[in-house]
Amino acid sequence: MAATQTQDLLQAAELLAQGQLVAIPTETVYGLAANALDPKAVSHIFTVKERPAFDPLIVHLAQGEDMAQYVAALPPAFERLYRYFGAGPLTYILPKKALIPDIVTAGHSTVGIRIPRHPLTQQLLSDLPFPLAAPSANIFGRLSPTSADHVADQLGERIPLILDGGQCAVGVESTIVDLSGKQARVLRLGGLSLEALTKALGHKPAVNAHSASNPRAPGMLSAHYSPGKPLELVERLPGIIPEAPRTGLLCFRRAPADHPEYLKEVLSPEGDLETAATRLFAALRKLSAEPQVKQILAETFPEEGLGRAINDRLRRAAYRGT
Ligand code: TXA
Ligand code: MG
Repeated sequence: MAATQTQDLLQAAELLAQGQLVAIPTETVYGLAANALDPKAVSHIFTVKERPAFDPLIVHLAQGEDMAQYVAALPPAFERLYRYFGAGPLTYILPKKALIPDIVTAGHSTVGIRIPRHPLTQQLLSDLPFPLAAPSANIFGRLSPTSADHVADQLGERIPLILDGGQCAVGVESTIVDLSGKQARVLRLGGLSLEALTKALGHKPAVNAHSASNPRAPGMLSAHYSPGKPLELVERLPGIIPEAPRTGLLCFRRAPADHPEYLKEVLSPEGDLETAATRLFAALRKLSAEPQVKQILAETFPEEGLGRAINDRLRRAAYRGT
């Protein structure tokens, strides 16, 4: 049976309270949510997503004031960042309290917590008597969904309900900052820019290099965000595109004029990286769904602001192992 798409918060809350899964909108990407305090409900997330059990989930709360219930210590850096940013595309890694089941954190002593700012999910979280564990609502290793239809494409047959909150305003997953050690460390570049984070912290945080196996963030695996067709990342698109009628192009500001219209996606003619991020995953989906396309050629974005998160996703989409 195909999932119902709705804006009915009561129906969503009811299913979640019964231990079922509901896809929820956030400003970054859609999440596949379950009651974070119910290990059995959480186990369905891993099954439905085909996600390995070693990859921990992010717990979503309505407000920072609820944080102390779930984490063992709140460092000054958290207070500072939450005061500065409030709800938004930032996930904090902090030492967990026993209340958070081990299945959520894949046995780690830390938990990832985020306070999303999407109004529908904000309301849902405020109504519920429990927090929501939610990874991105895609099949493991594939592109993250930025609309209810994207969720339906991949998971529609596996879940009862998709809460439709429209297009995601940010479009790439949250930035993950580990505050469990002495120094703040960024584990994933995402929807909150490194520049903004640096400003709020008052210093530049350490940034973990992108690696093939990173035990601190198992989900940082190199091969991820697969669009389903081979993708090559180039510094600059060549003037002449090899195998032009079979090559989809992902471009920042402009595309080669002579390339067929339906085989090219321009993310922001105005050169705005935030706009580009909101369109990234939808554009990759569109290109890879085009039957003509045998390969995708993507250009590297400026390594600043949300360009860093875009490049990170494209590098992993391009990764084919060695
Ligand atoms: O924007 C987002 O963060 C979205 C929305 C739905 O909130 N969620 C999301 O979840 O992207 P997911 O599961 O696709 O990615 C979460 C990442 C994974 O790479 C996981 O390894 C990492 O967070 N993570 C979660 N808990 C962690 C922990 N305790 N220590 C280190 N990494 C953790
Ligand atoms: Mg994901």
